[in-house]
Amino acid sequence: MLIQIPRGTQDIRPGTVELWQYIEEQARDICRRYNYKEIRTPIFEHTDLFLRGVGDTTDIVQKEMYTFTDRGERSLTLRPEGTAAVVRSYVENKMYGDATQPTKLFYIGPMFRYERPQSGRFRQFVQFGIEALGSNDPAIDAEVMALAMDFYKGLGLKHVKLVLNSLGDKESRQAHREALVSHFAPRIDEFCSDCQSRLHKNPLRILDCKKDRNHELMGTAPSITAYLNESSQAYYEKVQELLTMMDIPFEKDPNLVRGLDYYQHTVFEIMSEAEGFGAITTLSGGGRYNGLVEEIGGPETPGIGFAMSIERLLMALEAEKVTLPVSFEMDCFVVALGERAKDAATKLVHDLRKAGLNAEKDYLDRKIKAQFKAADRSEAKYVAVLGENELEQGVINVKDMSTGDQTEVALDTFVTYIAEKVQ
Ligand code: HAM
Repeated sequence: MLIQIPRGTQDIRPGTVELWQYIEEQARDICRRYNYKEIRTPIFEHTDLFLRGVGDTTDIVQKEMYTFTDRGERSLTLRPEGTAAVVRSYVENKMYGDATQPTKLFYIGPMFRYERPQSGRFRQFVQFGIEALGSNDPAIDAEVMALAMDFYKGLGLKHVKLVLNSLGDKESRQAHREALVSHFAPRIDEFCSDCQSRLHKNPLRILDCKKDRNHELMGTAPSITAYLNESSQAYYEKVQELLTMMDIPFEKDPNLVRGLDYYQHTVFEIMSEAEGFGAITTLSGGGRYNGLVEEIGGPETPGIGFAMSIERLLMALEAEKVTLPVSFEMDCFVVALGERAKDAATKLVHDLRKAGLNAEKDYLDRKIKAQFKAADRSEAKYVAVLGENELEQGVINVKDMSTGDQTEVALDTFVTYIAEKVQ
């Protein structure tokens, strides 16, 4: 039987991979502008990192991790997200002691979650994310959201919406938690077993349960906004003030809680509002995680970040019919006729490549017509034809494919001729 690709994964082949490369380049460029430096962490980590970091009452930890025991009997997990790993590296490498603060990092890489595959939901997907550690300034919150919005807008998306909420500090969260327990406790037996076990461990998680989404108590649950203490409220207002000042429109949603346990204060998601976009409209999500560094064994350090998947970004680009400026063109295809000309073409193509040009020739001993077809298919800007006659006369026939004009060029000036033309 033919072996097929695992469910929820995909091959990214030539023709599409160029879009990925372009997006990754733009991600790197925006991080350069906002001064975030790249970090690369392992694909797998000790399972404990995610239990502690992401939280053991989350769906990710309870249902979605690819966990395995290695030959040394260690429990390892393919990373389901990037934040916990970045924080682990930050603590392990004592980046809090670096001269440059805050520590501003970005990553692009595959993440793994055992989810039910559907449009926009994969088991392996690529996240572009950033993390800023070491600052409690609301200006960093605004900067993280600005970068995300700037990125989407820069790629040409128009129908994206920033949705904002605050989960407050520890004290506010505690007050909210108690209110949630009182709200759900009397009727908790009407909820799924996950929610029942979440009631006392982490009642906030009940709010993003996929099974009990439509239970009437969900809509009437107390929202965090009413429980924000004075300083949390002031922080939230400052973030909003800065976003407004930076001309970044946002919508407040008091029910936005996010699916990971580490958040405090600012949380946000960016949604696509494009017509025809699938059921899952969240393009990216993030927020502040002030307790996480300590949880992972480091000194008390605030942090904030966000992540988006390139898969969902591509879906949004498609839904909005945005064409990325990706070129599939080739500079020159050399068509050769006859044995000696074929050898000469091998050398010419080599010289073109050494000069930095993108060049190709035939390797299948094709007839002239088929060679022209191959040149066409490769979207060559110039097609150079070399026969025995030309070779004897020391010339080559160059056709400009955009105009159809043909010129005879001396062989010894051919490479410079093409180089100048394609500049
Ligand atoms: P998250 O909301 O779990 O947050 O994921 C962030 C983004 O990753 C989502 O908005 C979505 O674009 C993408 N994503 C998640 N799951 C899938 C999937 N199965 N298929 C395709 N795309 C997916 C985090 O991961 C946090 N670490 C974000 C963060 C960074 N918070 C602070 N810093």
